[in-house]
Amino acid sequence: MSALSRVTGGRLRFGGDYNPEQWPRSVWAEDVRLMRRAGVNMVTVGVFSWASLEPRPGARDFGWLDHVLELLHSGGIDVCLATPTASPPPWMGVRHPETLPRDENGLTVWYGSRQQFCASSPVYREYARRITEDLAQRYGSHPALRLWHVNNEYCTFCWCDETARHFRRWLRERYGSLEALNTAWGTAFWSQRYDGWEEIIPPRRAQYLRNPSQLLDFQRFTSDALLECFTGERDILAAHTPDIPVTTNFMPLWRGQDGWRWAAEEDVVSVDIYPDPRAGWESPDGPAHGALVQDLTRSQAGGPWMLMEQAAGPVNWRGVNHPKPPGLNRLWSLQAVARGADAVCYFQWRQSRQGSEKFHSGMVPHAGERSRTFQEVCGLGADLARIGPEVAGTGVTAQVALLHDWHSWWAGDQPGRPSSELDYTRVLTSWYQALWEENLLTDLAHPEHDLSRYPLVVLPHLYLLSDTALDSLTAYVRGGGTLVCGYFTGVADGDDRVREGGMDARLRDLLGIAVLHEWWPLHPEDGLTLDDGTPAGLWSEELDTVPGNAVTVLARYADGELAGRPAVLRNRFGAGTAWYLSTQPGHGALRRLLADAAATAGVAPVLPGLPDGVEAVRRGDLLFLLNHRRSPVTVPLPLPGTDLLTGTRHTEEVRLDRHGVAVLRS
Ligand code: GAL
Repeated sequence: MSALSRVTGGRLRFGGDYNPEQWPRSVWAEDVRLMRRAGVNMVTVGVFSWASLEPRPGARDFGWLDHVLELLHSGGIDVCLATPTASPPPWMGVRHPETLPRDENGLTVWYGSRQQFCASSPVYREYARRITEDLAQRYGSHPALRLWHVNNEYCTFCWCDETARHFRRWLRERYGSLEALNTAWGTAFWSQRYDGWEEIIPPRRAQYLRNPSQLLDFQRFTSDALLECFTGERDILAAHTPDIPVTTNFMPLWRGQDGWRWAAEEDVVSVDIYPDPRAGWESPDGPAHGALVQDLTRSQAGGPWMLMEQAAGPVNWRGVNHPKPPGLNRLWSLQAVARGADAVCYFQWRQSRQGSEKFHSGMVPHAGERSRTFQEVCGLGADLARIGPEVAGTGVTAQVALLHDWHSWWAGDQPGRPSSELDYTRVLTSWYQALWEENLLTDLAHPEHDLSRYPLVVLPHLYLLSDTALDSLTAYVRGGGTLVCGYFTGVADGDDRVREGGMDARLRDLLGIAVLHEWWPLHPEDGLTLDDGTPAGLWSEELDTVPGNAVTVLARYADGELAGRPAVLRNRFGAGTAWYLSTQPGHGALRRLLADAAATAGVAPVLPGLPDGVEAVRRGDLLFLLNHRRSPVTVPLPLPGTDLLTGTRHTEEVRLDRHGVAVLRS
């Protein structure tokens, strides 16, 4: 039995963050009544409760939490209990100012908001250890407890002196000697050579560009330092309750944590999904962004996962914050389920009336029980209860792997590169979106993973590739795989040292490139055309192909400085094929190219000929059809099926309302 199935018990979990400490007790019983009405079956309690549980150093006030857990339990609502360590009480900052983080300029990041802790502070860690220990002791055998939720969205950075000491210890372990560190960081440049460990500091504010390998290592270190905080608490909980799984919630496609490494330390992988701040509900990119995060989380989990937070209505941290139009909350929730979620939860249960998030929606908004939002929440609860037993625990099988690596992201998006326009997540997202629109089910994978089970591997842009990754990619294609690889890839090694020739020789060989003369990034306003009419932009490369007939030039640059030179290549290598795109094709062209590569690799879309804006996902033996358009649509069916949401049998086609969903069993 997987850890997550111990949490779900074979149904889909539905609920949200529940913060009763913000409300008088008279509201609590009402909360449980409304939760039951909505079909809520688990809530997350205590995420930001530290000051309520430990009002002064060492004191404990568990009475209110005892009462809340009893109320929930007697109402049949299970509990995901959080450690409150994301928001230390003010007394900690006053008594132990060294627990407060310092920014790059050495300025204190004060209490008065949340997440004001230095991950390296032994004092913070000790207080976190004690409160975690006491929570586990007190509630470990509570019958409502199903899951532990550690901290919340680990995301802090700190540049203080304690962090500096910790960073040095981490570096000693990584490099062993100062000489090795000086070599890895290339400190011969600009007279940066270190003569003693104590000279090394976190990359604080400096006069001009800072050492890129130091920045990269500091990012790696910060991810690891936060991970130590997580595993520290996890181990305490696991010692008390070996059968209760532990999670911590990720942010969607968040830069700060090495998500592959972190997920491996969790019993259950969970994520919070809010729309990309660069795109709103109204954006046509919204559903693809959600799908990307969902596929990434499923891939991190290696199976079903939890949607720990989303918003039932508006958020309050965009410029203009609209509610979700009718049906959108249900559509996006069922999209997550289609892509492997076994839980649909929200921030938060009841919308706050005070505090920084009083204009952020809740499942129960200010307008209360009669509001449209709450009615829709109830409808969704009923839908999830209906399909839950058929869906929970089942898998999603993708035949395409999209490669993603945090270290490459960290190394590649620093200043001082050929183009500040090249944005890691934009490239990843645009390639993912093309796959999504072609209805090709996709996993995300680390370039060092075993890729042999995927007929198609897509690598949009990975500036840094380790030797292991290069060997694994080469072995994959040699063994018969199909790789589509994008520009400015394989440029640097694990220390962020540029590979000889500007691209690793193994990769050049694989792609059929003889010489990579120069990178030619483009200004946003400078478009290019290829000789097959394809518009392109962002980036181009001056390269020569290997002589001979293994490599075919599929398109050449038709204008600009590189006119006549190869732009898109396809190379036969071993038993497989590798495509190289030295530029970013226009969206339609990228779609066509990936669809061609998929077809030649024998990968079919979930349903052929779907109308644009309709998503089809197969989970287990169910087919989810999701209409992201604002108008109804009719989808032809390859086989008759019964919609589990309505009980209706459809033979030739299904009509989906605006934002409608069908979950078909054939
Ligand atoms: C999340 C966070 C929640 C809440 C929410 C608002 O990042 O975990 O506590 O702040 O954002 O959208």
